[in-house]
Order: sequence, then C-alpha cells, then structure tokens
Amino acid sequence: MTNPLCTLTHQDGVAVLAIDSPPVNALGQAVRQAIHETMGKALADPAVTAVVILCAGRTFFAGADITEFGKPFAAPGLHDMFDRFDGASKPIVAAIHGTALGGGLELALACHYRVAVPTAKLGLPEVALGLLPGAGGTQRAPRLIGVAHALDLIVGGKPVGAAQALRIGLIDRVLEGQDMRAEAVAYARELVASGAPLRRTRDLPADLTPQEAAATIADYRARNAKSFVGFKAPGNIVRAIEAATDRPFEAGLTREWELFDELMASPESAAQRHIFFAERAAAKVPVARDCGEVAIASVAVVGAGTMGSGITLAFLNAGFPVTMIDVNPAALERGAAHVRATLEALASKGRITPSVRDARLAAFATAAALDAVAQVDLVVEAVFERLDLKQQVFRQIDALAKPGAVLASNTSFLDLDAIAAVTARPADVVGLHFFAPANIMRLLEVVRGARTSDRVIQTAMTLGRKLGKVAVLSGVCDGFIANRAMARRSEAADRLLEQGVMPWDVDAAMVGYGFPMGPFQMMDLVGLDVIGWDKENTAGRTVQEVLCEAGRLGQKSGSGYYDYDAQRRGTPSAFAEATIRDFAARSGQPAPTLSAQDIIERLLFPVVNEGAKLLEEGIALRASDIDMALVAGYAWPVYTGGPMIWGDHCGLVRIVAALDEQIAQGAPITVSNLLRTKAAAGETFL
Ligand code: 3HC
Repeated sequence: MTNPLCTLTHQDGVAVLAIDSPPVNALGQAVRQAIHETMGKALADPAVTAVVILCAGRTFFAGADITEFGKPFAAPGLHDMFDRFDGASKPIVAAIHGTALGGGLELALACHYRVAVPTAKLGLPEVALGLLPGAGGTQRAPRLIGVAHALDLIVGGKPVGAAQALRIGLIDRVLEGQDMRAEAVAYARELVASGAPLRRTRDLPADLTPQEAAATIADYRARNAKSFVGFKAPGNIVRAIEAATDRPFEAGLTREWELFDELMASPESAAQRHIFFAERAAAKVPVARDCGEVAIASVAVVGAGTMGSGITLAFLNAGFPVTMIDVNPAALERGAAHVRATLEALASKGRITPSVRDARLAAFATAAALDAVAQVDLVVEAVFERLDLKQQVFRQIDALAKPGAVLASNTSFLDLDAIAAVTARPADVVGLHFFAPANIMRLLEVVRGARTSDRVIQTAMTLGRKLGKVAVLSGVCDGFIANRAMARRSEAADRLLEQGVMPWDVDAAMVGYGFPMGPFQMMDLVGLDVIGWDKENTAGRTVQEVLCEAGRLGQKSGSGYYDYDAQRRGTPSAFAEATIRDFAARSGQPAPTLSAQDIIERLLFPVVNEGAKLLEEGIALRASDIDMALVAGYAWPVYTGGPMIWGDHCGLVRIVAALDEQIAQGAPITVSNLLRTKAAAGETFL
C-alpha cells in the first residue's frame, strides 16, 4: 500500500494499518481518507482474519483536527469510517500508545477490541474546548464503561491511564509494551483462534435501567452544578449521555450531533479553542534556534515564606531536588513544615502514592546559609519584595553560585534589570514570576531582562513546561503582564467605591462575569493591610485605609469590606457602607446607578486598554499571551477567552468611546494608541 499516511502490512493473517501523520496523528481529512480506504482494502482481503490499527510517532490519534473546525466539511467523516468498522466481519483491534484523545479515542471505541501499552493515556477532553465528543463517544462510552464512568470521563475531561482504563472496561488488555505491534498482532490472533465475537460497542446493553440511569444523571448534575456555571459544554454532554440511555443508538447519534453543533457555534467554545491555541503559541518565543539550554538537575529556593515554600513544592512535584534556604531559622522551619504537610496531605488524599511522597520528601533539603546555592543549576530568589534586599541577596548569590547557573528572581513588580545589574552575570539572570499558590496556579511569567541570554530564556520556558505550567514571556515593566493588566481593574473598582458604588455590587458583577470572586472579596481574603497600606504616609485617604485604621483588615480580623462569621461567610458591612457613603458625599455627586454590565465594562475595559499598551510597548509578544496569562494567573473565565479576544467581541470602537467618557468624568486613564488606531481602522487584536 503506497499511501504515505497509512501503511498496510500483513503478519500471520493479521492486517496492520499504521498511520503516520506527525506531530500528533490528528484525524484531518487526508488521514480519515487514508484510513477509510485502507481499512476497506484490509477488510475485503480474504487472507486477512483480523485488523490492528495503530499509529507511528509519539502518540495514537490526538483527536479530530482542531484546525479544520469552522471550515467546510470534507468527506469522509469520522462517522463514515466508523460505519465501515461496524460493518466489518472480522475483528478490528485498536493498539494504543501515547494519548488516545477525543476523536482518537472515539475511533478506538468504534473498534471491536482495544489494547494499550502501560504508559498510554485515554481521554475525551473535548469539554476543555467547549465541545463534546461528536463522533459517537457520548453514545459508545456509556455502553462500554457504564453511565457513571462515562460521565466522569467526558464531563470531567481528564484522561485515564492504561491500568484505570482496564479497570473500568475502556480497554481489554494492558500490553507489556516492549513491542506494541507484535503484542497487538498476537492479541488479534488470540481473538481469532478463540472465536471471540465481534464486540460492537454500539450493540452493548446498557448497564443501568432507564430509571437508574436517570437517577445517576440527576445526582451527577446536582453534585457538579457549581462547576458547570458559565460553561455550555457540560450541560450538553450530560444531555447527550442521557440520550444514550433512553433511545436507540442511531437516534442517540443524531441527538449527539445536534448538541455538538450547538456547542461548535457557541462563543464559549470559540473562546476555549482560542485558549488551546494561545497556550501553544505562548511556548514559541524569539530565541536563536541554536541557543541551547542549561541542564537543570537541582534547584535552590532562597526565602521560605509563602512564595518560597510554594515554589519549592512546585519543583518537588515536578521531580526536582530542591534546597530551601532562609537565614531566619523560624521562617525556615515554618516553610519546611508547610512543604512537608502539603506533601503529606497530597498522599493522604490519594493524590500521590506513599512512595512518591517519600521520594519528594527525600529530594527536599533545607539550609540556613546561602552557601547552599553553590551546588545547584538554578537558584530562585523569593525574598521580601524590596529592591535593596533583592539586590543584596543577588550580590551574594553571584559570589557563590557556580558558573553557568541560572539565577532567577520571583519579583512580581520590581525592575529585573536593576537586580541583574548588581551581578557580574546579567545574561544568566531571569524573572520566574510564580502566582500564589505557586504549586497550584498554572501561570509562570518568564521575565526577560535587557541582558538575559536566549539560552536562559529557552531554559526557563522549558522549565515552565516541566513544572506543568503555562510559561508566558514578558518584558520588564511594573507588574509584568498579568499584575499590570489587572491593576487597572483594581483601580477602576476603587474609583467606583469612591463614587458610592457598593463593593458587594462590584463583586457580584465580577462573579457574574465568571471570576471566582470579586476584587473586594479578594482584598478581604488577602488582607487589606497587605495590599498597599502605608500607615505612615497614606492613612485615611482611601476607603481601604479607613477600614484598616478601624482594624478591619479582612477575613483574618473578622471584618473588612464584609463582616465575617465563624465560618468566614461574608455579609455586607454597615460600617463599610457608611464609610463609602461618606467618601462619596465629599465628591458632591450622587452615586451612579450602574447595572452589572456597566460595572463589568467600567472594570474590564481598562484591562483591555492596558493589554493594548503591553503590546504597544513590546512587553507582551502577542495578544493571545495576555489572554493566556490572565486565564492561567487570575482565573479570568476561560469561556470568555481572556480580555483581548473578549475586547474584540465587545468592539474596540465601543471600548474607546467608553474609556473617553470615563476620562471626561475625571478618570486618570490614557487610551492606548494601538487601541485607538485599531478601533479607527476597524481592526481587532486577534
Ligand atoms: N488537532 C490539530 N492540531 C493539534 C491537535 C489536534 N487535535 N492536537 C495537537 N495539535 C497540534 C498542536 O497545536 C501543536 O501544534 P504546533 O506545534 O503547531 O503548536 C502540535 O500538535 C503539538 O501539540 P502539543 O504542543 O500540545 O504537544 P504535546 O506533546 O505537548 O501534547 C497532546 C500532545 C496531548 C496530544 C496535546 O496536543 C493535546 O492535548 N491535544 C488536543 C487533544 C484534544 O483536545 N483532542 C480532542 C479534539 S476535538 C475532537 O476530537 C472532536 C471529536 O469528538 C469530533
């Protein structure tokens, strides 16, 4: 067979279809065509007793080709292929390595049997793209693994490993994995020799009666209702699975397709697909192709506070040995206790095995002196956010670290170049800005100083991936990408307060937009005194300062913008309300009456404007990087796609007009030239 995408070979009466379409064997039109034709030939060949379908390269099919979405459909479709599989009179076996995802797993589900190597992962992650498995996955999976597992697999969207796949019946055997092809052929021969039936997933009986299925689905909906808010896909997926339980297969497929189509046309899915590509785009940074990387085998984290211990955990969780250093013994002990307790908690919740916990604990060391940086390949400084202190620490690190080591600062707004300048090796200095909690939040801003080398930038980008984070490159400026953009939201929120708008109305609008909490709830959580209250210099000039002076420091003191009960549930505070009214009265203007949409625009249009400035100044490489940073670092609702694409949808002309109106009313904003130019030219950011 000559098709370069799909080779057909024969071994002991078994036909082997091997697809080779790098990088991830996505099921684009050419691949579908190749499989369809080749499978037809193999099934028609009387010498063939069984067929094995597998992939070359790093993975089994990674799903439908996402780049084809939104373009005119070109036959054959996945359903055409699967109809041919279903019509086969000899067994078809899918042999899986790497990841079988989305349409790729649906292809495997349309085979009669499935085997996988031990390292394989199988999943239906369409939910992350705001979609559902549209090639029979919602109809075949419940028939194969039962309704409850299908709900977890498809609504949850998390891939399962081969062992778990075997346990739930998603695959029929875990191969040894030494020679997948030979083992899969041997399995197919076993099936033929034993006269195993043609097990069509579509014909399998349901595991539950319709009543039981309805109860299981209702229970699932109720348990997960909170995490569905704002997203369209989970609801449609549940409806599609419901159809698998209350109607015949073909009718279920029709329903699945209607629900898929609806999602494909939704803004939520468009936004989530934008973020999928934004994540991949962010990884591509302008460095010399042959710049190479520093090999990082060991890490030291300087500073054992909240950030230091979180960063330590992030590295330990990714398998790096880490020495946490703090010259203050009490701080070191507190930080170390936090690291150990977190690892214990992961193990006791079953998130890691006891042996993994032990390995991570064994890889963790502490040191009370900076000399410990001498042995490591990467030093991450996470001391208090003060330039003189960081410079002092960097001078010492410079004197001690080995040549070629990467010296990183976790500064969140200081001038990285001023830090690098105190060392004799500014090319090795980079910003690694983690977001709290550093072991959880996905964003890592890689900050490029004026003299940071390409090699160090590439090293940092790769590190980000190894840590399971999204690394986004930023230039040096106050607050880098995410904090700088979101600072404009905080300022806008404060302006509203001073005009007499209540914090709970602002928070409700932000939660309604999709943020997990509003800016004032966030301030209460973090502590009002932590965020910019300088007792000596600024007392009493803002609402926040008045609250601080009254001892209302946020949740920790039982009150802030809200009053808190023992369970830390907040209710609007009469004190805060009176303070705000007092401030507003001084302006002599009546408090504006704003709808939730007005509040959203007042707070978030300035973020879009700041994003435009970040682009204009070259701090961010691309608009999609800004979207990615805010989704991963600030829980900006992913189903809006991030500020820049959301701004595009709102209309740049409208945003400029709204900002100009704010400026006319005295808001200290300047509109970005780039934003104005794009608006005038009828352009968008993306
Ligand atoms: N379609 C088109 N391109 C894809 C793709 C897909 N399904 N999956 C990955 N790619 C591309 C990426 O965009 C990237 O391209 P680039 O090099 O030009 O940036 C390249 O393949 C390599 O991808 P990664 O950088 O992500 O490689 P990794 O090795 O880190 O990860 C992966 C591999 C786990 C397969 C990951 O790419 C992934 O999760 N892919 C998406 C899987 C998915 O969501 N599948 C469902 C698709 S929707 C569907 O099937 C609908 C059906 O139900 C009808």
